[in-house]
Amino acid sequence: MNKKTLLNLAKAHGTPLFVIDHAELRKNYALFRKHFPRIQTYYAVKVNSDPAVVETFYNLGGSFDVASMQEFHTVYRFIENLPSKKRQDFIWDKIIYANPIKPVETLEELDRYKPLVTYDNEEEIRKIAKYAPNAGLALRLRVPNTGSMVELSSKFGALPGEAVHLITRAHDYGLIVEGLSFHVGSQCTNPENYIQALHLSAGIFAEAKSRGFNLQLLDIGGGFPAAYDASVPKIGSLAKKINYELDRLFPKTVEILAEPGRFLVASAGSAVSKIIGKAVRGDKLCYYVDDGVYHTYSGIIFDHCTYRMKSFKSGPTQLCAVFGPTCDALDTISLAEQLPDLKMGDYLYSNTIGAYSAASSTHFNGFPPATVVHINR
Ligand SMILES: Cc1ncc(COP(=O)(O)O)c(C=O)c1O
Repeated sequence: MNKKTLLNLAKAHGTPLFVIDHAELRKNYALFRKHFPRIQTYYAVKVNSDPAVVETFYNLGGSFDVASMQEFHTVYRFIENLPSKKRQDFIWDKIIYANPIKPVETLEELDRYKPLVTYDNEEEIRKIAKYAPNAGLALRLRVPNTGSMVELSSKFGALPGEAVHLITRAHDYGLIVEGLSFHVGSQCTNPENYIQALHLSAGIFAEAKSRGFNLQLLDIGGGFPAAYDASVPKIGSLAKKINYELDRLFPKTVEILAEPGRFLVASAGSAVSKIIGKAVRGDKLCYYVDDGVYHTYSGIIFDHCTYRMKSFKSGPTQLCAVFGPTCDALDTISLAEQLPDLKMGDYLYSNTIGAYSAASSTHFNGFPPATVVHINR
């Protein structure tokens, strides 16, 4: 995002400020569609659940991955006034409830919407059969997450060896398994994870077919990396490998879905904070700003992500630490930033902070989340 625009927005709206550029959201969505023409794009709402972000993807014809009732309703608000058949078709065709573990109350509420939901174990089959028998199912597989910034396979996913048994069990309970889903881990820069997951899935499609189950759908999840630095592979080279395997392993009749989140929103978000304190501790110059890890920079903790703090001012730099505003020492944005000599009220900013940032911001210590400003809507 343009530096001058950011500075003007900070002066106009105050700080801490979180800016979302919708032109960038549209650009990322178009890029994803261009590189994955066979894939239906389900935006993973958890990554940035701001209704304005959801609206932009809705207006582009996007589909949605939701993982809580709150997220479901954030999307549902855009379709609630459609005629009932159209609304129901939208839910069936364009929403997946992609949380393998669902509370009974959620299943009871979901049932009337008849969505597609994921599952990965037998207890969940029993719950779905009892409380949401009208849902369609996708079996979530455990696949390699090697090298991904956020690992997910230790929490979710049936072992490939259990897959056909879990499809059979769902069938025994009168449920229909439409297909498989997996997630290679968030910020996946290792294409081998996708390749292995696609091979595992193709094997399960074949085994299921031999037992009379014709799977129709494959959800390849998220993982598509944001360009945090130059070492991140370009989406085009990743897409080439994935598309080649998809076309080789899955007939055209199999519907392919993906749930990108980070790739679509990371580069669309910028944060601006203001210097509220300055001290020398040991030999190090320490800046204190009005945003931190309990707020827009929460991705440092929850997303294992790092963000560069940049100054609008130039001049000779020195190694500095940057801390957030709360009383917790954990509230450390960076212990090693090269920054010039700055004064109270000067601003710092970070780019590529649109994913898993405002989404996990808290009110800790009485400091509210950053003001959100949308541009190019
Ligand atoms: C089921 C599911 N789908 C999609 C996503 C979004 O993936 P990413 O962060 O790689 O864009 C996540 C993230 O945790 C997820 O759990």
